[in-house]
Amino acid sequence: MAKLIDGKKISQQIKDELKEKVAQLKEQGISICLAVIQVGNNPASTVYVGNKKKACAYVGIESLAYELPEETTEQELLSLVEELNQKKEVNGILVQLPLPGHIDEDKVIQAISPAKDVDGFHPQSVGALSIGQKGFVSCTPAGIIQLLKRSDIEIDGKECVIIGRSNIVGKPMALLLLRENGTVTICHSHTADLKEVARRADILVVAIGKAKFVDADYVKEGAVVIDVGMDRDENGKLCGDVDFEAVKDKAGAITPVPGGVGPMTIAMLMHNCVESAMMSQD
Ligand code: GUN
Repeated sequence: MAKLIDGKKISQQIKDELKEKVAQLKEQGISICLAVIQVGNNPASTVYVGNKKKACAYVGIESLAYELPEETTEQELLSLVEELNQKKEVNGILVQLPLPGHIDEDKVIQAISPAKDVDGFHPQSVGALSIGQKGFVSCTPAGIIQLLKRSDIEIDGKECVIIGRSNIVGKPMALLLLRENGTVTICHSHTADLKEVARRADILVVAIGKAKFVDADYVKEGAVVIDVGMDRDENGKLCGDVDFEAVKDKAGAITPVPGGVGPMTIAMLMHNCVESAMMSQD
């Protein structure tokens, strides 16, 4: 059986470290505030937003919740973002995605001040990451790097294969693994012989949103398997993009779903909020 990479435990460590840091900052008169905007009531978004607010309360970050109706116009949302950009006491702005179809997500993301872009989705943040400059990093891939580092898994010189090329996970994941001196390959739906490429990986990151897609044929003996999926299996049970039962005896280390990558995303959001508050002091 592979070593289990415990995202719940590691995210808790990170939140506890941040809680201490936030308390120190408070003593210096610095408080931290995250504005969270949700438009409509997508049930998954409501759960995610609730978890983000809970994490803020735990760490000692104030959260401002904006729950806007589904019929909110793009202009109304852009005006709220602009208002929050101007508010000195707000350090981070998070617009929960997906947005309703009548709102242009790219336009909204671009309206967020890069100094408050704690999701790391703004083109300026993405550009900074790609050329090795300072900026906020997308929380899920940043969390995966922490999972690897805190599990003493070496990235330097390793073959890293990512299945999935989304802006939120796949692409920033590739840049972060590259920054750690990994040899990086990104696979996607047009990749010829996906299994053969995946089997080269020392570290395999799977982020495609297809329940139990990756079986033992995709995994080299002893590989580290990171599962970003949050899917439902044929019985409606939460599962990942990796068929855990099929892979667990072949992999060297593996993240479970739930309790792997998921909790890390929120821990890194808290980390970005603390960074934002510290940078605004400089
Ligand atoms: N929807 C799903 N994941 C995320 C995330 O990390 N941030 C935001 N803003 N929306 C999401």
